[in-house]
Amino acid sequence: MTTQLTEAIDDATDRYRAATPKSLSRHEQACLVMPGGNTRTILHYDPYPVTITRGEGCIVWDLDGNPYVDFLGEYSAGLYGHSNPEISAAVKNVLDQGIVLCAPNQYELELAESLCARFPSCDQIRFCNSGTEANLLAISAAKTCTQRNKIMVFNGAYHGSVFYFGEHHSVINAPFDFVVGTFNDTDRCVELIREHREDLAAILVEPMQGSGGCIPGSREFLQTLRDMSRETGAVLIFDEVMTSRLSSGGLQHRLNIVPDMTTFGKYLGGGLTFGAFGGQKKIMEQFNPCRDDALIHPGTFNNNVLTMVAGLTGLRDIYTTQMATDHNQIGDNFRDTLQRIIEQREFPMHVSGVGSLMCIHFQRERLRNINDVDAEPRLRTLFHLEMLLSGIYTADRGYMSLSLALSPDDYLKFRDAFENFLDRFAGLIRACSAAESHRAKKTLN
Ligand SMILES: Cc1ncc(COP(=O)(O)O)c(C=O)c1O
Repeated sequence: MTTQLTEAIDDATDRYRAATPKSLSRHEQACLVMPGGNTRTILHYDPYPVTITRGEGCIVWDLDGNPYVDFLGEYSAGLYGHSNPEISAAVKNVLDQGIVLCAPNQYELELAESLCARFPSCDQIRFCNSGTEANLLAISAAKTCTQRNKIMVFNGAYHGSVFYFGEHHSVINAPFDFVVGTFNDTDRCVELIREHREDLAAILVEPMQGSGGCIPGSREFLQTLRDMSRETGAVLIFDEVMTSRLSSGGLQHRLNIVPDMTTFGKYLGGGLTFGAFGGQKKIMEQFNPCRDDALIHPGTFNNNVLTMVAGLTGLRDIYTTQMATDHNQIGDNFRDTLQRIIEQREFPMHVSGVGSLMCIHFQRERLRNINDVDAEPRLRTLFHLEMLLSGIYTADRGYMSLSLALSPDDYLKFRDAFENFLDRFAGLIRACSAAESHRAKKTLN
């Protein structure tokens, strides 16, 4: 079976190489000046990633001219597609009026107002340049506000380049004093919070783990975090960098759980570099520069006009409350369709996620957290390569983020490619699953 899977991946790799020679050549050149030819870890996959030269609507083209329907959506930052006319026009208009203005501008106020109106957890907002920065700043604000040191996070979490808590925690994680709980394990987390209650400054959680595999936090788990943070005085921070698109007010609105602080990023910058964090006034006021003891956060590009106008145009004119509801309904329907296709074949797979964010897993059991992962990881490699060869762009880990630019025909195209993959590799998928269960049983013994 292992040989069969290796052969299938080798065969797909050969066809991929034959279809993308220019991307290979650019990759080899890039390796001379960037480690592994890469400046963004997530974009690397074997044997080398395609170089994308152009995007329009939901289609991207690689250096060899191959088109792909984009189901990755820039890991959720590409909600508006690659060439939304309203956002393009707003950015071009601002470009004509001059950039790097080094002063408050007219767009940041409106964008801040829109965000505070949509997210009741935010009395006030500050902008920065990435989700990573947003989390750094939110954690720091929680520490100074509580005069405590420890930060609770969860296994499988990703909060940015220096906040990775996957199977092996990143050795370059920011040097905070982390306490790591088990995602969705309510009882154990209550114990852990009680154990550290005197020192806990913040509980930082993705209401749905994105990078961890689109694993939703259960309502009971998230509500308990809300209750426990109130009980202990720790600041509850929802990292909604990815999930803020899951309704007009994010996943917190869908769940009706209001955290003390929220961090943002991705699509809220209209497709440009973006981060923001917001929360209760008493926490955010620490940054008020009129105060003698103000926290310092001067960031050169925090309010750059291009991002501010792109983000504002997106929220105000495009991703309205109705649009957010409709788009996430499309996502729920699409995920149900894929799940039905899997179930009709009785395959050991499932599709996780909420609304327009989802992830395909090659195991039947739904994940509560990354400890439950029990799939043969190379099936994802095969799936990713075969989908690319069918003209569908997804993440190599099976993750997808749906953009507004996708049309019913695009969803049909995905569905055809998906069914085709399942039918072609049916034997392999079943055999890998049986081998994994066998391995798991042996480990338990
Ligand atoms: C939940 C979550 N938090 C934070 C980040 C970091 O955002 P950025 O890549 O803008 O630093 C990401 C990025 O994928 C994310 O998914």
